[in-house]
Amino acid sequence: DTEHHNYNNCLIMPGFVDGHVHYPQVSVIASFGTQLLEWLEKYTFPEEARFSEFNYAKKAANSFLNLLLANGTTTAAVYCTSHPQSVEAFFEEASLRNQRMIAGKVLMDRNAPKSVTDTVKTGYEDSKQLIDKWHGVGRNLYAVTPRFAPTSSPEQLEACGELLKEYPDIYLQSHLAENMEEVRWVHELFPKSKSYQDVYAQYGMLGSRVLYGHAIHLTEQDLAQAAETGTKYVHCPTSNLFIGSGLFNIANTWNCGVDVLLGSDVGGGTSLSPFATMKAAYEIAQLSGFSLTPEEAFWMSTAGGAESLYLGDKIGRLDVGYEADIVVIDLASTSLIKQRMDRAENIRDVLFTQMMLADDRAIKATFVAGRIMYS
Ligand code: GUN
Ligand code: ZN
Repeated sequence: DTEHHNYNNCLIMPGFVDGHVHYPQVSVIASFGTQLLEWLEKYTFPEEARFSEFNYAKKAANSFLNLLLANGTTTAAVYCTSHPQSVEAFFEEASLRNQRMIAGKVLMDRNAPKSVTDTVKTGYEDSKQLIDKWHGVGRNLYAVTPRFAPTSSPEQLEACGELLKEYPDIYLQSHLAENMEEVRWVHELFPKSKSYQDVYAQYGMLGSRVLYGHAIHLTEQDLAQAAETGTKYVHCPTSNLFIGSGLFNIANTWNCGVDVLLGSDVGGGTSLSPFATMKAAYEIAQLSGFSLTPEEAFWMSTAGGAESLYLGDKIGRLDVGYEADIVVIDLASTSLIKQRMDRAENIRDVLFTQMMLADDRAIKATFVAGRIMYS
């Protein structure tokens, strides 16, 4: 009675892991002509304000999760908005699909419009309530999510550090040193801090379950401190190019002993496809004379990403006892790829061809916990 699927000329592999993405920003993807701070004001905050409405958030979460599956992504670390209902909507939709998701309510209590801010008290209490309701329930996991240092008061950052102490198995995610103007602003707002990262260090926001998106403009001490504390950086290459933020140096970060994940960072990023993210990571590494191998890129997007999230015994590999999150990749999804594949002589070249040329057309099927959820 076993159902049969024929995946001839396909690669069957673990589902992809996206280490940094904003589900409320899908509709602002490809917004023209700004860098980070203006991009937030002009496009992002107005869109995020709409997520105060539960039904709007629910529709967006549904569409986002379907898009992830259509791109072969089965696990992601996701930013919601400052409205707790945006988190409720997200975890409800993730639970319907039984997807292993990490997500959290954005905290920001200053330097942003009223429609998207919280307060020290509501930010802390709403986060706590959401952790109690959702963390570890089904496959859902919680990440305390202060947007970034400029939009949180010192008191709010302190509360975030406290949450991390109160719940040792949750995550914390935020943005760090993405753009030079942002870095200068942080120095103005926190004049006593030695560096941007030092602000987070001061409030107990470094550690092995902490993920910082971007982490481009850092000091040598920052890198050493991240290595020492086990703090992870999430490289978001399509976003860094699109918003014009800068070039993350992956080789140097690895040499300093820091763990790196890959993230799409949509809506700053330009694609939800892990192929597009790996391709841009390769291209940015090339600019500093380092050739990111397909083994490294696919490892970061599967088993490596899973290990960085302490989920290395559950997802990211095809093995006995693992949660069966599986993606089936058509190795000849376009005529160009088909032609190039005729010259591919080994698995390494096959993977490199896919990471440079493939997109969502290559995703033939996606299985979540053993059930086919996209084909
Ligand atoms: N820094 C603070 N918020 C954001 C965001 O939403 N996207 C990106 N790319 N950077 C940020
Ligand atoms: Zn981001």
